[in-house]
Amino acid sequence: MQINYPRLLADLRHLAKFGQVGTGVHRLSFTPEDREARHWLLQRMTEAGLDAQIDGIGNVYGQSKGVAKAVLIGSHTDSVPKGGWLDGAMGVLYGLEIARARLEAGAQTDLGIDVISFADEEGTYRALAGSLSFCGHLSEADFEAATNQHGKTLRAALSEAGYAGRQRVTLDPSRHVAYLEGHIEQGPRLETEGKKIGVVTGIVGIRRLQVTCTGQADHAGTTPMLLRKDAGSALIKYCHNLMQRFAQVRSANSVWNFGHVAFEPGASNVVPSTAHVLVEFRDPSEATLDRMQAEIQAAAATANGRGGVGVQATELMRVSPAEMDAKLAAMIEVAARGRGAPTLRMPSGAGHDAMVLTRHVPTAMLFIPSIGGRSHDIAEDSDEADICLGIDVLAGTVRALNPTA
Ligand code: GLV
Ligand code: MN
Ligand code: MN
Repeated sequence: MQINYPRLLADLRHLAKFGQVGTGVHRLSFTPEDREARHWLLQRMTEAGLDAQIDGIGNVYGQSKGVAKAVLIGSHTDSVPKGGWLDGAMGVLYGLEIARARLEAGAQTDLGIDVISFADEEGTYRALAGSLSFCGHLSEADFEAATNQHGKTLRAALSEAGYAGRQRVTLDPSRHVAYLEGHIEQGPRLETEGKKIGVVTGIVGIRRLQVTCTGQADHAGTTPMLLRKDAGSALIKYCHNLMQRFAQVRSANSVWNFGHVAFEPGASNVVPSTAHVLVEFRDPSEATLDRMQAEIQAAAATANGRGGVGVQATELMRVSPAEMDAKLAAMIEVAARGRGAPTLRMPSGAGHDAMVLTRHVPTAMLFIPSIGGRSHDIAEDSDEADICLGIDVLAGTVRALNPTA
């Protein structure tokens, strides 16, 4: 099996043109750019000789033909707003290139390569929707509740894309012997510590809540301060209080983010009637996450009703911390060392589809360095040599799973 590095890099550059913004991409799930990228990937998979389809949730899935067992390799091709060109895309195209190389080598092995781009990993509608659906964890209630920030439902987005009503592909425990995901690190550790391959030990748990303050719109020039039911000021105070509360219960690994706020009706001369904030927090321990969530609720209960403003916190998403398969991780390490690449065992602070897959199938991830640790921004980048080293190590791991490959 011979990896064609120029072809991998050319595919990555091509995929980056869908939704291109400067050096990055703006490819939110199910937008025309995202759908075009999915269609392009479907064609590449089909050309490569895989049995490929886009399923009812938007997963692009290519199966090796004529084999009973396969290693599943993938990630996602949707992006955050104004995101980077490698986040997710690299892991999917690693899978495509390894599947192509296997078939070009005459597919002399019984172990196939199946490739997948999971839908909506970034959570425009529902974080990890594609991998949750693949593993049977996207409940009907979750599916129906999924909307984007403008209130558009996942159901409507899938209908518009033409995917609604299609069957959804699922993990096949009798077929899929392992799931492997290659990804950029998205942080600075590999670079600062002079390592080339991150061997992921586990992935943090993630929770997202929306906090909503409900007051009353009034004239911002004529309404006396004491008579206002100001949802905007209440939200600002709430966020400040929550940061202090988080600081009391956090672990050394906890992180949190106020990623989006909206005031309605949203004019400088109108007292806000409603204000929302999206709060996300992460930690490797479920107990710490529980403590942080309790603070969110306690802060809401304390603030509720003050100044005539109602305060409510609603959970939007939770995903538990996840361990990677130790045997597979060791195989990645061996494959990396065989190529002279210094490795670092490390947890992932970013969420990945691997955290869903690992509940069902031996799963492992490798990271390559991110230049300057930048990600979730168009500045995200990695050296081409590192991108090529990453696929080499992943292909080496596949070979180790089936020594005749
Ligand atoms: C995925 O990129 C996440 O960690 O939010
Ligand atoms: Mn991401
Ligand atoms: Mn990603």
